[in-house]
Amino acid sequence: MTPLRIGIVGAGGMGMSHAAAISELGEFELAGLCDVDREMVEATAGKSGVPAFTDYTEMVRADRLDAVLVATPHYFHPPVVEHALANGVHVMCEKPIAVHVRDAQRMIDAHAGSGVRFGVMFQMRTNPLFRAVHELVASGALGELQRTNWIITNWYRPQAYYDMGGWRGTWKGEGGGVLINQCPHQLDLMQWICGMPVRLRAHCRLGARHEIEVEDDVTAVLEYANGATGIFVTSTGEAPGANRFEIVGDLGTVIVENDEVRYCRTAMSVRQHIATADKSFAKVDVEEVDVPIPAGGGAHIDILTNFAAAILDPELAVVAPGCEAINQVTLQNAMLMSGLQKRPVELPLDGDAYVAFLDDLIASAAQ
Ligand SMILES: NC(=O)c1ccc[n+]([C@@H]2O[C@H](COP(=O)([O-])OP(=O)(O)OC[C@H]3O[C@@H](n4cnc5c(N)ncnc54)[C@H](O)[C@@H]3O)[C@@H](O)[C@H]2O)c1
Repeated sequence: MTPLRIGIVGAGGMGMSHAAAISELGEFELAGLCDVDREMVEATAGKSGVPAFTDYTEMVRADRLDAVLVATPHYFHPPVVEHALANGVHVMCEKPIAVHVRDAQRMIDAHAGSGVRFGVMFQMRTNPLFRAVHELVASGALGELQRTNWIITNWYRPQAYYDMGGWRGTWKGEGGGVLINQCPHQLDLMQWICGMPVRLRAHCRLGARHEIEVEDDVTAVLEYANGATGIFVTSTGEAPGANRFEIVGDLGTVIVENDEVRYCRTAMSVRQHIATADKSFAKVDVEEVDVPIPAGGGAHIDILTNFAAAILDPELAVVAPGCEAINQVTLQNAMLMSGLQKRPVELPLDGDAYVAFLDDLIASAAQ
């Protein structure tokens, strides 16, 4: 098989990590590296023996690419993705696909009818643990959703992290803080497994623990269409922090913590038990059920392997398609807007209203 020619836009930390993964995959051949840092990209590309570019449009034009992988800071994802799609080039985009839902929707519209694949680097969707939970919930085993709860506070970052890259920790450079940088995987998994809420209310603290413009501490309360509620808590300023995801349904509970899944199945519907039990302190019988978790998975290379396979086989689904990535952007935008405007936000979000809100944040930070 002739390998697929892929170019990387953004030859920083993630871009070069993906370049290393690509070199291990027979399906792809690294055909170009693009970065606005000319000196760095020429030196790096030279070592890999591939052409260097400082303009992605030139790389797409010059190199007869089959695919591009976009690993720039967030604000540059939409123009690069849209350009590639318009030129019939398959796209793998780093998370988040965009800073706001308006751009995300435009990218999805650009993809519709393009005839190429558009995937997102949500590698945690390939983690067997989360795949197992996704399948369990999708099978209906937990019954009607009652409550979700994700505490993801082990994203600790010292000030030096925010100081190392000009784009980090600023509205203009990154478009947000912990929600947009660290949490896209959890926000995506939460919606992938539990569905989207219809409304949320958040409390966001800007620079609570760091010298940054953006949020580093968030508590959000989600409401689902059936009345179920969810909590999402995150921070980059706690130690050791926690990572616990809990899903409660009418027929059982799943808890993901410490790389383990705990699944407790109720002997009957809890709703029914509440209505029919005749003893005032009766309990619902519960049994713990083993959830077999295969080894491996969850790495970037799994997403790239699927991406290559999906390019070659139009029948194969992309693990994390671009059209689904708008949900993570929606949750992040809505939490931030709700937290800073101190009001509940209805979903789906008004993209124009969010852009105006973000523009105000950028303008006020510049004063
Ligand atoms: N999937 C994951 O687990 C994961 C982990 C870390 C980062 N990321 C994501 O990867 C992306 C890149 O993050 P990073 O940590 O590698 O950042 P980085 O700062 O290390 O690298 C970004 C690179 O993009 C270059 N760049 C900026 N604008 C450009 C443009 N218009 N055209 C070409 N190059 C441009 C910069 O010069 C830099 O070299 C971000 O979206 C980030 O959220 C994903």
